[in-house]
Amino acid sequence: MSRRHLLVTSALPYANGPIHLGHMVEFIQTDIWVRFQRLRGHTVLYMGADDTHGTPIMLGAKREGLLPETLIAQVKERHEKDLHDFGIQMDLFYTTHSPENEALLLEIYQKCVDEHKIERRDIDQFYCESCDMFLPDRYLKGICPRCQSPDQYGDSCEVCSATYAPTDLLAPRCATCHSTPVLRTSEHYFFKLSECSSFLKAWIQSGHVRPEIQNKLMEWFTEGLQDWDISRDAPYFGFQIPDAANKYFYVWMDAPVGYMATTLKWCRDHGQDFDSIWRKGPYEIHHFIGKDILYFHALFWPAMLVTAGFKTPEAIHVHGFLTVNGEKMSKSRGTFIMARQYLDRLDPSYLRYYFAAKLNDAVEDLDFSWHDFVTRVNADLINKFINIASRIGAIVGKNWDGQLSDIDTAADPILEEIAGAGDEIAAYMDSLSYNKAMMRVMQLADKVNKYIHDSEPWNLVTQDPDKAQAVCTSALTALWRLSVYMKPVVPDVVAKIECFLGKDIVSWEAHGQSMAGCKIRPFEKILDRLKPQTD
Ligand code: MSP
Ligand code: ZN
Repeated sequence: MSRRHLLVTSALPYANGPIHLGHMVEFIQTDIWVRFQRLRGHTVLYMGADDTHGTPIMLGAKREGLLPETLIAQVKERHEKDLHDFGIQMDLFYTTHSPENEALLLEIYQKCVDEHKIERRDIDQFYCESCDMFLPDRYLKGICPRCQSPDQYGDSCEVCSATYAPTDLLAPRCATCHSTPVLRTSEHYFFKLSECSSFLKAWIQSGHVRPEIQNKLMEWFTEGLQDWDISRDAPYFGFQIPDAANKYFYVWMDAPVGYMATTLKWCRDHGQDFDSIWRKGPYEIHHFIGKDILYFHALFWPAMLVTAGFKTPEAIHVHGFLTVNGEKMSKSRGTFIMARQYLDRLDPSYLRYYFAAKLNDAVEDLDFSWHDFVTRVNADLINKFINIASRIGAIVGKNWDGQLSDIDTAADPILEEIAGAGDEIAAYMDSLSYNKAMMRVMQLADKVNKYIHDSEPWNLVTQDPDKAQAVCTSALTALWRLSVYMKPVVPDVVAKIECFLGKDIVSWEAHGQSMAGCKIRPFEKILDRLKPQTD
């Protein structure tokens, strides 16, 4: 197996709100993949950051009487802690409000200018004279021109789903101060995305996204690609456009550059070469994102990268949205679950397992319901996998002071089957079919439990202690092998099993090893069953 070099990213969460369970779908999906690839012996860098610029963050800080810099620093600390406590093993979690990001952004922008990809054009936009600012679509409210519903945003109607230009909105108002805005002309900078069409078409059709995503993307070409407005007028929190008074780069221009800037910061801190990651060399770039930000990652971003002479992504992995009880997470229904609320009550391993058991390689939404969560976690993670350790641990400790003997020949077929499943499970993990990997592991765990049940080591201890010891040695060998497969998913659970079994899993190849002749430590509880009433 040749060693791969992978640069992996999760999308950068906005620095104006808490990490919630929807974000955790993505971080857990990415983290499992990263841990899996590391266990396989590949070299992996996992980069993340907060996305800190834009109007909502500027206004959010103002509302709280803070400087945006103060707000984003506070939020970053909380985001970092949440991610850490969920076991997300990033090499660096940085910020887009960094000197590295500004420098790289300016370099990319200059290349785009040199390549004649930037064009200036006047546009008319609503301006609020009492707030002294141009109003982005989401800061404009009015009556839907199609269904006449009041209180709709400047770009689309939540009642009839119509999309329209802000100037079509009836009786427009500033969402902040409710005064009537005026139209004002201002010069904007556009990235000529349409000129990148043939490059992008070829890129999309050469396997960097899954076929269903490819089809979705190709639909956008039939309407023709629109040039992209990359500038915003002051007041704005972001990076200034050079030689343009009071103009800033739109947040989505500098946000993906944050992936590179984080890598650059990491390289500087670790004496590594940035160019051999982002410009040339063996690193494959893998972005994990949600379906809502596909346009930015699969069109704008490769176009910017190729124009500026950087590597384009090897793959963009797109997941669906988390719903709670079948509906979009909602604050009013109490289904907007923050990462911290979860962590205050429950062990992160439950959620990591649950998401893994549900995640596949398609762009499907995934539902969280308390009942399903409790049932799945208890039935599989606890009753099938961890149960092997709890059933056998006590017997070995009590009777042989932790000493194991040989494999019971009756266990050979099942042990071989577990070891033999290594390639199949690895293929599922690599292709993000975690649900299939978990299903296979649990099938195997079922067989192990049946073997234990049928062999009755607790009775054999008096009748045939040697055989009992061999049964326990076999069962713990099975546990060891399954633990290799589970390690990327529930690293904390497996760390406790490693401690109990007295050795560490250092590579995926360990799924071939045996526990024969090993000495184990006293068994300690690994994880409690979830209680159904904790709703
Ligand atoms: N800041 C941008 C991303 C910039 S990347 C250069 C952004 N931030 S976000 O906080 O809104 O979302 C971050 C990631 O979380 C996105 O990939 C988004 O799809 C994902 N999710 C946000 N809510 C989600 C769910 N309810 N379910 C699953 N993923 C969700 O977009
Ligand atoms: Zn206003």
